[in-house]
Amino acid sequence: MSSILQFPDSFHWGAATASYQIEGAWNEDGKGESIWDRFSHTPGKIIDHSTGDVACDHYHRWCQDLDMMQELGLKAYRFSIAWTRIFPDGRGQVNQAGLDFYDRLVDGLLSRNITPYVTLYHWDLPQALQNEGGWPQRRTAEDYVRYAETVARRLGDRVKHWITHNEPWVAAFMGYALGIHAPGIQDFPQALAASHHLLLSHGWAVPIIRQHSAGAQVGITLNLHDVVPASPSHADAKMARQLDGYFNRMFLDPVFGRHYPADMLAFFEQQYGARMDGVQEGDLQAIAADIDFLGVNYYTRQVARDASAPGNLPRTISTDDSEFTEMGWEVHPHSLYRLLNRLHFDYQPRQIIITENGAAFVDTVSADGRIHDQRRLAYIHEHLKAAHAAIQGGVPLTGTFVWSLMDNFEWTYGITKRFGVYYVDYETQQRLPKDSALWYRQVIADGGVPAA
Ligand code: FCB
Repeated sequence: MSSILQFPDSFHWGAATASYQIEGAWNEDGKGESIWDRFSHTPGKIIDHSTGDVACDHYHRWCQDLDMMQELGLKAYRFSIAWTRIFPDGRGQVNQAGLDFYDRLVDGLLSRNITPYVTLYHWDLPQALQNEGGWPQRRTAEDYVRYAETVARRLGDRVKHWITHNEPWVAAFMGYALGIHAPGIQDFPQALAASHHLLLSHGWAVPIIRQHSAGAQVGITLNLHDVVPASPSHADAKMARQLDGYFNRMFLDPVFGRHYPADMLAFFEQQYGARMDGVQEGDLQAIAADIDFLGVNYYTRQVARDASAPGNLPRTISTDDSEFTEMGWEVHPHSLYRLLNRLHFDYQPRQIIITENGAAFVDTVSADGRIHDQRRLAYIHEHLKAAHAAIQGGVPLTGTFVWSLMDNFEWTYGITKRFGVYYVDYETQQRLPKDSALWYRQVIADGGVPAA
């Protein structure tokens, strides 16, 4: 028997989901249209032509799903709220039925001793607000704050962990610059404005959430990368610095009170003619609102290669024997360790929480009726070992959430990528625990992972 790497008793062992990816019921009980409804209904946007109209039908099956979480022994569950269930048009009249749904969900979690972590925005902006310009408009940040306040007023007596935004880099750049995600716009100036207003809405919301949720812990979740140069060349080092700026510093620096990084502002202007010109007096102070935790979504590292540079050195980081997930993402647990340490030393958040970590692999139901997802299990295991090492070294890591509780609608990949520790049969909506779920249940029960 191998020994157990013990985590602190108070550690939050969790699993995460997001509204659009699991709920379905896209137009029920007064829900309005979101940019993801519009996007997935637009031909050619989702590779398998699926939509989130039904997804995991969680909106109707939430009660069984809660039982499943209890079976797994979850200590915490991270889910997001669909803004369009609360304000179908983004602002104005509140839809009580939407609030009631999340109210029941929260009570259901608490009665099962599962701590709710609420994400207020996981990319499903009301389409009505996008019709007026969406996140590039400052007004959207104001609407967000009213929405956040409405939810906090209703749930704040019971929900004590709040995440203002999920991965603003993805919302801003995938949505408004690369056009791969909703709303599918390709315009760097809009992406920069979106980025600023997402952060601004975060900063404005923090004190308001606290006001309606006594003793609450409030944070933001960023998708962060350990960026390494592919070779010791100057060109690759420069590229690594740039990617670090793009993914990491553009968000970390303002959130931790350091303004936007000057090198990146210059880069966006030179490269794309895009200027961060919507910043008003007081915005940066607002964005630097004191937070209780930094949420980190970690999947893979970034290897920076400036392929265009003349005289570049041969690549010294070999990827020949590297393992890749179904997303094409390299499995690199040591980068999680490096990232957690870097965040701790460079930014000193009070607490760090891994709000997402997991992997997509092809899953098949075997003859014995089980899903032997050994690679996912190993992925989670290795990353938990890295997390444990970081804690041992003094990183204030207080929880981790596996992405995802169950297979779900993976954005532009539709239902072709399975991230769940529970398998979802989309024909029958049956959920089956994969081997990784059974293993994770034991980890939670033991409060730690096997050392070997
Ligand atoms: C993250 C998202 C999450 C999921 C995973 C795979 O970027 O936050 O919704 O799609 O990637």
